[in-house]
Order: sequence, then structure tokens, then C-alpha cells
Amino acid sequence: MAVNRKVQTLDEFTIQQLRDVPNATGELSHLLRNIGLAAKRVNTEVNKAGLVDILGDVGTVNVQGEEVKKLDVFANEQFTGVLSHGIACAGIASEELDDYVPFDDVKSNNSKYVCVFDPLDGSSNIDVNVSIGTIFGVYKRKTPIGTVVTKEDFLQAGNKQVAAGYIVYGSSTMLVYATRRGVQGFTLDPSIGEWTLSHPDIKCPEKGKIYSVNHGNFFQYEEKVRNYINECQHKTKANGGPYTQRYIGSMVSDVHRNLIKGGIFMYPGTTDKPNGKLRLLYECNPFAFIMSVAGGRATNGKTRILDIEPTELHQRTPLYIGSKLMMDELETYLNA
Ligand code: AHG
Ligand code: MN
Ligand code: MN
Repeated sequence: MAVNRKVQTLDEFTIQQLRDVPNATGELSHLLRNIGLAAKRVNTEVNKAGLVDILGDVGTVNVQGEEVKKLDVFANEQFTGVLSHGIACAGIASEELDDYVPFDDVKSNNSKYVCVFDPLDGSSNIDVNVSIGTIFGVYKRKTPIGTVVTKEDFLQAGNKQVAAGYIVYGSSTMLVYATRRGVQGFTLDPSIGEWTLSHPDIKCPEKGKIYSVNHGNFFQYEEKVRNYINECQHKTKANGGPYTQRYIGSMVSDVHRNLIKGGIFMYPGTTDKPNGKLRLLYECNPFAFIMSVAGGRATNGKTRILDIEPTELHQRTPLYIGSKLMMDELETYLNA
């Protein structure tokens, strides 16, 4: 088989980046590598999701004698397990767990990063073969290296992230991650099990034609939001339209598409849930970081998402995120 050396792997890319940073320790590269490893395991399981009914229902014992777990529980165990056994993460907080988890062993306590994640995003789409994802954010801990991490290491504003990313388990599987230096997209080559650089230096187009929102909640949104959605529906060619509506119901897939094509994604507060549905730490902050490095923006309607000081691990926030000029236009409605 001919060797294709045009392909650059995730490891090669992060090691090459290290060469430009004189005092780098390689710990972040190691952490990304571990996230990539956990994601590959989840990917394998996601690809088998349709077989659960054949191999055994959730909660039953499958043909290998293993208990069949819900995919979001499985994903959570993979990410937590891989990161706790690595040397580059001192603890995690996950959407699936009530509290944060300090790893509390010598090698973990000596690492400088903590990680927050939504192990499986879009879980309502698992059973219907629609793209789902994983979202993660990485922070430098606030407590001293060598000690056990505490809650304050996780309750940091999104602007303190050193890296953030997501995996989309779609028609192909992609890992996209951002540091302050740029956003890079890698596609999994399943034949060799490697993440290969396919989307270098992703920039979100300043303007797009896609708006993504759950229209079913329309009459529960506040008037200013409804006015903006009306505007999206009435765009003519003369003022940049017509817009098109796309809403998968997996935030990872919806925001990934809008990041690449240009667009705006909204999960506003509703009369029942004034803070909306999405979690600040596990969903909004990582995407706000990625989008801002890519040239876009994210807000809760009043404050930049990245500037919100979290008070609880699982707090929710309304979210508006996307292309810069579309966000500007949205804000003329929200500030009216
Ligand atoms: P999760 O599966 O992690 O609970 O997240 C699902 C989220 C998000 O991915 C998506 O954008 C949103 O829920 C969709 O919610 P609605 O069905 O209320 O529109
Ligand atoms: Mn989610
Ligand atoms: Mn989830």
C-alpha cells in the first residue's frame, strides 16, 4: 500500500506546535491525545448503537456477558476512565455526574489541568441514527499543583479555558479543538484509527444563511427573540436572505455545521425555563471559546458567555452563538 505522507495526525500536529512554544511541557498535547483515545472508544460503541436491540436491551446482559449500558453512561465512563489513568488531568466535572471528581493520586495531583465535559450530547438522537457528539473544555487549575483539586478549579469563567473542543459522531467522525492559536479539525480515518488533520485553521464565515432554533418553543420566547426569528423568516435577497432553518437537536452537530458554513444557533430562555436548557460549563463555554477563536461570538443575550462567572457546576444559560455579523444583527433586536 502506498504511504500517504500528506496526512498529518493529531499527535504529529500537537508535537509540531510544541516546537514553537519554548517552555511547553507537552501536557496539553497529552490530554488531547487521551480525549482522542476515549472518543475512539465511544465512536466504536456509537457505531454499534443500532445493534443494541439485537445484542441485548440496555440494562440486560449482552452476548459477551457484559451489561449493556446506556451510551451516555458508557461515554462518561470512557472519558473519566481514560483521563484518570493518564498523567495530564487532575480531575473532571461531567454533565452526567452530580459532583466533580478529583482523581487524587500522585500523578494526577501533579498535573496542571482539569477537564469539563458533556460525554454524550444529543442523546435523544441516539435511537434514531442521527449525529451526536461529545463536548469538552480544559482549564488550568487554580489550586496548587501537588494538591487535590477542589470545586473552585471547575467554577472558572469560560475565558480561562486553555483549550476546548468537541467530537461529532456523524457521517464521519471528527474531533475539532481550539486553543488561543486556532481551531483545528481532524477526521477519524477508521481504517487506521488515526485522527487526521482535515480542517486546518477553521474560521467561521462572518455571515451565513442558517438559523437554528427550536421553533416548537416559539411562543415561549420573549418578544425580542420572537422578533428576531421573524426577521430570519422574512429575509429577502436584498437584505442578505433568504435564510434557511436547520435544527438537528444535537447541539454539537448544529453548531459544527454553522461554524463551517456560517450561521446562528439559539437556545433562548422560555417561560417555563428562563435559563433555557444548555449547561454553561459543559456545553456553552467550550463552544463559546471555539467560536470566538474562529472569529464568531456567543452571548446569553446580555453578557458574553465567556465572561459569566459560574456559581454552580450544572448551571444553565440561554445561548446565542454564531457568525459575527449575524450576532451583531441579533443584538440589535435583543437590545431594542
Ligand atoms: P444532552 O443530550 O447532552 O442532554 O443535550 C441535548 C441538548 C442539545 O444537544 C440540543 O441542542 C438540545 O438539547 C435540544 O433541545 P430541544 O429538544 O429542547 O430543542
Ligand atoms: Mn448536551
Ligand atoms: Mn449529555
